[in-house]
Amino acid sequence: MAINEAALNALLGKMVTELGAAYVGSSVILGDQLGLYKELAAHGPLTSAQLAERTGTTERYVREWLSGQAASGYIEYDPATSTFHITPEQAMVFANADSPVNLTGGYYSLQSIYADVPRMAEAFRTGKGMGWGEHCNCLSFGTAKFFGPGYRANLVAGWLPQLEGVVPKLQSGGKVADVGCGHGISTVTMARAFPNSHFYGFDYHPESIQQARALAKEEGLANVTFDVALAKEYPGTNYDLVTTFDCLHDMGDPVGASAHVRGTLNANGAWMIVEPMAQDDLSGNLNPVGRIYYAASTMICLPTSLSQEVGLGLGAQAGEQRLREVITKGGFTRFRRASETPFNIILEARP
Ligand SMILES: C[S@@+](CC[C@H](N)C(=O)[O-])C[C@H]1O[C@@H](n2cnc3c(N)ncnc32)[C@H](O)[C@@H]1O
Repeated sequence: MAINEAALNALLGKMVTELGAAYVGSSVILGDQLGLYKELAAHGPLTSAQLAERTGTTERYVREWLSGQAASGYIEYDPATSTFHITPEQAMVFANADSPVNLTGGYYSLQSIYADVPRMAEAFRTGKGMGWGEHCNCLSFGTAKFFGPGYRANLVAGWLPQLEGVVPKLQSGGKVADVGCGHGISTVTMARAFPNSHFYGFDYHPESIQQARALAKEEGLANVTFDVALAKEYPGTNYDLVTTFDCLHDMGDPVGASAHVRGTLNANGAWMIVEPMAQDDLSGNLNPVGRIYYAASTMICLPTSLSQEVGLGLGAQAGEQRLREVITKGGFTRFRRASETPFNIILEARP
């Protein structure tokens, strides 16, 4: 078959950028962990020697790191003074931990998924799964770090107010289960905002529950409790609100989980389901956000589901229609899209 030179060159040009992005990810983690971005944002412009001194690191390594970051367009270089600085926009993405668009957390899971390639090659052959706790713990830490800024920015101010009557109930005093809560970032965010309500966080991964308990203690919150439990078995009844953040599709038996949520809610209760943004058809997901989610789903979400009972394997890009099927099969009669962001759809289900 004849090679179209222009098409080949265009693909190679794209792949140089892609390969660069895949390589530089580990440097983003280092920059975050060692405080290099933060220091540059607070005190730049700086030379490599100045940044090394300020961060207690070695100049030769820092110079190489800075050069790679500048070549990536993540920071700026001034050849006249041999200094590096970070723009306000770059600081929002790399340096400021409270920024709603800080993306450094997204890189931590990459350590886990690259290390899991041999295990996943085997899984592709056997069809077996890989449980959440079988990955490097950088996955659960990375997930909390990646999703945290979005939850802090949107959950209380944007998403909960979209649910019918939920905010007044939480203000006066309600009972909430946050299922598949991971490190409890969403649970603690809600507990801080609604001191009259009690929040119960559940996750089947014991190490995540340990982290969630430590976070609640650190924040001095008395209205939050964390326990290890499967989504289809967590204790308690008469909940006013159940939430699932980015985890329904990870479950082996999301229909069973839905039925359990239905059974634990009171008659006026609501279930808020936050899931990755996705269209119902593959063609609609062939975009940059869909790309991240399909890749993550291949290495994380799908194997998590396939490692559990039933192993439905929804995948991170299930889409609203498929989620509706799963949720209504569990006994919910009302279902609607309450809100959305470029990364998430927020669904509301009622008994
Ligand atoms: C992508 S993480 C999301 C964690 C957290 N909700 C957040 O948004 O940061 C998926 C979570 O679902 C949990 N999980 C998976 N299957 C579960 C199940 N059947 N029951 C309870 N938790 C489950 C995992 O342990 C993991 O913490």
